[in-house]
Amino acid sequence: MDLSLRPRRLRQNPQIRDLVAETSLRVKDLMYPIFVTDGKGLRSPHRVVPGILTVSVDKLAPLMKEIQDLGILSVLLFGVTQKKDAKGTEALNKSGPVVTAIKLIRDSFPNIQIATDVALDPYTDHGHDGIFENGYVQNDATIEVLAKMSVLHAQAGAQIVAPSDMMDGRVAGIREELDEASLENTLILSYTAKYASALYGPFRETLDAKPVGDKKTYQMDCRNRREALRELELDLAEGADMVMVKPATWYQDIIADFKERSEVPVVAYHVSGEAAMIEVGVQAGLFDRDRAILESLVGIKRAGADLIATYHALDAAKLIQNL
Ligand code: PBG
Repeated sequence: MDLSLRPRRLRQNPQIRDLVAETSLRVKDLMYPIFVTDGKGLRSPHRVVPGILTVSVDKLAPLMKEIQDLGILSVLLFGVTQKKDAKGTEALNKSGPVVTAIKLIRDSFPNIQIATDVALDPYTDHGHDGIFENGYVQNDATIEVLAKMSVLHAQAGAQIVAPSDMMDGRVAGIREELDEASLENTLILSYTAKYASALYGPFRETLDAKPVGDKKTYQMDCRNRREALRELELDLAEGADMVMVKPATWYQDIIADFKERSEVPVVAYHVSGEAAMIEVGVQAGLFDRDRAILESLVGIKRAGADLIATYHALDAAKLIQNL
């Protein structure tokens, strides 16, 4: 046997495999999305994905302590409320759960970086991300509200605002309003390529925000790849500090494109339905939970993500620490 090329030499033991591993998953790569709600004494995990946690603000401190102890550096906050109306008025409530949560984290966990989701869907009775009139989400009117919402979150102490609405020009609109309020250090994490996806199911259930119709007039069509590059170009020109691809696993080509074509950090959102696929597979006895969690997140990093927003952040942090 004359075989000199043997790739298996690099796989012969765990130490050699570690020495030559091309991708690493670190605790600081993980951003944990948290749902904060009105009321008291609430800490409710989603029925399928326990990592989708809805907490009332009085229950937030112990959770934040857990997050901090694990070494996770950032959280992504969403509001959950039954106070809904056509215009999403509650989004600008100065004493709503998101603003209260930001202040609490800022005061008690100063090292945790707070990102907030900026969109109207938790607050509108029609479930759309913006002002919905004549059967259409109104672009420019929505930007005005989102810019105010961003200032509200940043003034409360959020370092990062993350518009998830997919309106045209919202990054520029938000940047302008932040700068006018002397918040020039607030970062904008734009959901740059956000696709209209079936994978948002558990999230919408958590928010009780099922949209009238669908979101296809603003979220992207899953058939398009070059269109994501156009969104990337626009967001960078408008001043996005970080760009996001969402969902992650089925869109790894887009993550790789963003990594190659931009010089800003690339964030991937491993969304609720992606987490649910893992949990359901585990519940059916089909695969090992720990391995599935790590493999899915490593895959997203390998594609080019610098940061991953994931409901498995706490599980993954524990697994990484025990590696
Ligand atoms: C909407 C928003 C969605 C998610 C984050 N922000 C859902 C949607 O567009 O309907 C989904 C996140 C997830 O599924 O985990 N502003």
